[in-house]
Amino acid sequence: MTHDGTAGGNDSVPGRVQPAERIGGDIRLPGDKSIAHRALLFDALGEGEASVLIPSPGGDVRSTAGVLAALGAILDEARGHDGVMQYRVRGGGTATAACLPGAGGESLDHGNAGTSLRLSMGALAGRAATARQTGDASLSGRPMERVAVPLRQMGATVSTVDGHAPVTIRGSRPLRALHHDLPVASAQVLGAVSLAALAANGRTTVTTPGPTRDHTERLLAWLGVPIRRDGFTTSVDGPAGFRARDIDVPGDISSAAFWLAAAALHPSAELRIRAVGLNPSRTAIIDVLREMGADITVHESDPSGPEPVGDLVVRGGTTIHGIRIEGARVADLIDELPLLAIVMAGADGPSELRDAGELRTKESDRIALVVDGLLAIGVDAEELHDGWRVTPHGQRAGRPVDATIVTGGDHRIAMAFAIAAVTGVAEGVSIDDPACAEVSYPTFWSDLAQVTNSGSTPAGTSR
Ligand code: S3P
Repeated sequence: MTHDGTAGGNDSVPGRVQPAERIGGDIRLPGDKSIAHRALLFDALGEGEASVLIPSPGGDVRSTAGVLAALGAILDEARGHDGVMQYRVRGGGTATAACLPGAGGESLDHGNAGTSLRLSMGALAGRAATARQTGDASLSGRPMERVAVPLRQMGATVSTVDGHAPVTIRGSRPLRALHHDLPVASAQVLGAVSLAALAANGRTTVTTPGPTRDHTERLLAWLGVPIRRDGFTTSVDGPAGFRARDIDVPGDISSAAFWLAAAALHPSAELRIRAVGLNPSRTAIIDVLREMGADITVHESDPSGPEPVGDLVVRGGTTIHGIRIEGARVADLIDELPLLAIVMAGADGPSELRDAGELRTKESDRIALVVDGLLAIGVDAEELHDGWRVTPHGQRAGRPVDATIVTGGDHRIAMAFAIAAVTGVAEGVSIDDPACAEVSYPTFWSDLAQVTNSGSTPAGTSR
């Protein structure tokens, strides 16, 4: 079997993952995490009621829903038979909009979700109340001053504990408009300042040092907010109110990436991945995998909202080449880089990643854990301060090693190394905490079982 053993939860969590004979089938993904956080939060900042539909939301998105429920902004939630969650959101909109309903002073638990905590800081900054925001141990180790600094300049009172959560915010209305240059290309910080700008008098502009995903701009503009992106500068004219609107969240391309890589690395694979969000600021993973030699076809369909959507078809059996990734491109690939390390390890030549120091501030120190994991499965990998160098086994001619992977509780590390195992880049892996995949991809392990059990080959046969 590809998977041995199970452990609790809705998903069937494996004790060990091994190479699969074949990979095939049809996949539907959880809703895009970046869009889902924003859909819930932005509707909560609008006026009136609306529905947000999110396929199989993971723990991170449920944290945002939980925070909004604590603030009185979620009226109802119901799971459909297809796993799609329908959240009925009641906006707290006023003339200046950035005022969530609910009493002040709550302790809001954002779990493992950095996007949830940081975007909510921006929303809470324009609300005349005090709130305390917390998260789990991983989230409490991540930098929050990058958000707190501009919000203080806008007039909110924000305290952190040595730059980390718990964060306490005393909001203010109106806030002051701000011209802010971000030190890092972070869509989360850009989004937080943009939400605060809804409660500010005048034009707020945020300039990033490089490209960032533009979900905030797309969704707020679609909701009627005067927000514009011009190059690396986003401007919002406040105060701005809008009406809450029904939103259908597409599949998460960062989750699709696992299947794109799995099929690309496998000699016998064909997968169709349905209804994936295809925002151009997120599709660099498709471009990079194609550059490495993957056979991926994109079938765009008509979008129902501000985000492009389509199906992806990926076929295996092609030769995958090494690649160098650096510069501005890194931000567009930031969540896929642990997985790309596995693709690099299955390539026919060496690869290098540079300019990716931000990876050390994610759910774990992803540079350290990726390199440790690669070394554990027998790949020649070198840790750099801002990335890694990977020298593959020699297109599976070497001896991939069976190993236990230390995830640090990081979902993307767990899923990336599972893909190493099913594709034969590793002989097999045991994941120390497979359940951690749940925060972004609650059905990952059952989808893995499904795609490795498909086709004419006997179910999940090891090779
Ligand atoms: C996100 C932005 C990225 C990404 C995170 C989601 C977002 O973080 O890593 O998973 O939804 O805005 P940064 O913008 O901080 O790099």
